[in-house]
Amino acid sequence: MNTAHTNIELYADAIPSWPCDALAIGVYEDGQPQKVVATACKEWSKEIDRALAAGWLRGKEGHFLFLPVAGSGQAPVRLLLIGLGKEKAVTPQTLEDTGARLVKIARSHGIARLGCLLALDRHNGIGLGACAGYLAQGAWLGGYRFEQFKTKGQEGDAVSQDVITLELAVMGKRLERLRDTLQHIKHVCDGQCLARDLGNMPGNVLTPEGMAQEARKMAETLPIQVTVWDEKQLKKQKMNGILAVGQGSVHPPRLIMLEYRQGGDRPLLVVVGKAITFDSGGISLKPGAKMEEMKFDMAGGAAVLGFMHAIAAMKLPVNVVGLVPTAENLPSATAQRPGDIIETASGQWVEVINTDAEGRLILADALHHARSLAPDMIIDLATLTGACVVALGHEASGLMGFDKKLLRRLGRAGKKVGERLWPLPLFPGYQELLKSPVADMKNVGGRDAGAITAGCFLSRFVDKDTPWAHIDIAGTAWDMNGKKPSQPKGATGVGVRLLCRFAQKELQ
Ligand code: BES
Ligand code: MN
Ligand code: ZN
Repeated sequence: MNTAHTNIELYADAIPSWPCDALAIGVYEDGQPQKVVATACKEWSKEIDRALAAGWLRGKEGHFLFLPVAGSGQAPVRLLLIGLGKEKAVTPQTLEDTGARLVKIARSHGIARLGCLLALDRHNGIGLGACAGYLAQGAWLGGYRFEQFKTKGQEGDAVSQDVITLELAVMGKRLERLRDTLQHIKHVCDGQCLARDLGNMPGNVLTPEGMAQEARKMAETLPIQVTVWDEKQLKKQKMNGILAVGQGSVHPPRLIMLEYRQGGDRPLLVVVGKAITFDSGGISLKPGAKMEEMKFDMAGGAAVLGFMHAIAAMKLPVNVVGLVPTAENLPSATAQRPGDIIETASGQWVEVINTDAEGRLILADALHHARSLAPDMIIDLATLTGACVVALGHEASGLMGFDKKLLRRLGRAGKKVGERLWPLPLFPGYQELLKSPVADMKNVGGRDAGAITAGCFLSRFVDKDTPWAHIDIAGTAWDMNGKKPSQPKGATGVGVRLLCRFAQKELQ
């Protein structure tokens, strides 16, 4: 887990303790520094004004300038002026991005302790506490690094061990509440970074049993009960979907169950996450290009683990059961074949046309199992289809289901946390595409509407009276762009913030 690269300390009613190595101050695109400069650091405002008047920094978002100024007596002080763009255009995202940029600048300039005055002003009307929260979230998420497999201290190696401490100046009023809020945000970021770590982990290291170990590890320190079914128990439960997908690998499949019940008689949410630790396609082998990225095909399961970790750490009074079916999809002499017909745990028979449509097979058994828990709602997350990436790209996850209310509540949560969801319809006509001449259904519906027919397939394994939502995160769980300040290249941990928000707003 990986927010450990960034510490955040709060300084109430005071400029952060000296010596900090630099002090960050926001500058808008009109060339004005944030307002607090006029009162809180009068001694430097002339020098700041002079630098801005000279056009050394125009306040464009993300641009920055180091300005050495005279300290009161001792060492000189290094100001870090950072552009926020036009004040009227500042959004929560601007602040999150700025928090991430500050950590990166600190890291690349050898600044171990960075003071920060940005949370002393309401930027474009955003409340002070909220400003602090967004800055902190950006710092924690942007400070994330996956460097387990990089040898430390090698020459030319960009890896440094620096832990950055962000000294956040805040108003003294309601400090305790702000501390609590930031602690909650940290737990959510920790959960998201856990999901990122798992997503970035290669298939040789993170196997299905490895996923189970991760879950067990969580149960050691948090009030979560973990049960893991191995092949023997999966057989007993007739979970042939999970078994068939896993039968080609020497790393056997598992079903991981995590229970967190701290909500008394509040509703029960079951979250199901697809966890294929590596998806080669199986006998229906994928093309070679970018196949290595298919180590992130367990991102749905990773989101479930990260989410459960976060709500347990926050001690939310909610009831949640997480189900993570996990397997490795490889071709071998024991692998399932195209044409195989399998009986899923639900008793429905599936003709496996394409072994690369494996996610829905493991989800079918897990969704069926969810029924036996008598949930009030079911949400599944899965890197399910390339078709969803074609439809929505990397900006939004696909959202499917029949319960309008649940879809609306999820959509709202996603919008709030910046993990956008977009609906795709499950019209009855699409179900027709799954018809098989020899079994109850095929596991693929052809090229057309691929994300939707996958959703249709899943819909056959949930109880029609239980609100259910399917979220296809194939396009949002992996980011090789490196363009978002708070998102390093690789796994995104998508779903964790969404589910946490949903749990906080809709389950308590
Ligand atoms: N894990 C893939 C889907 C995927 C593709 C996720 C690209 C992220 C990026 C899934 O198991 C898969 O292979 N789906 C097939 C289904 C098809 C055979 C009907 C696909 O999308 O090609
Ligand atoms: Mn596949
Ligand atoms: Zn897959």
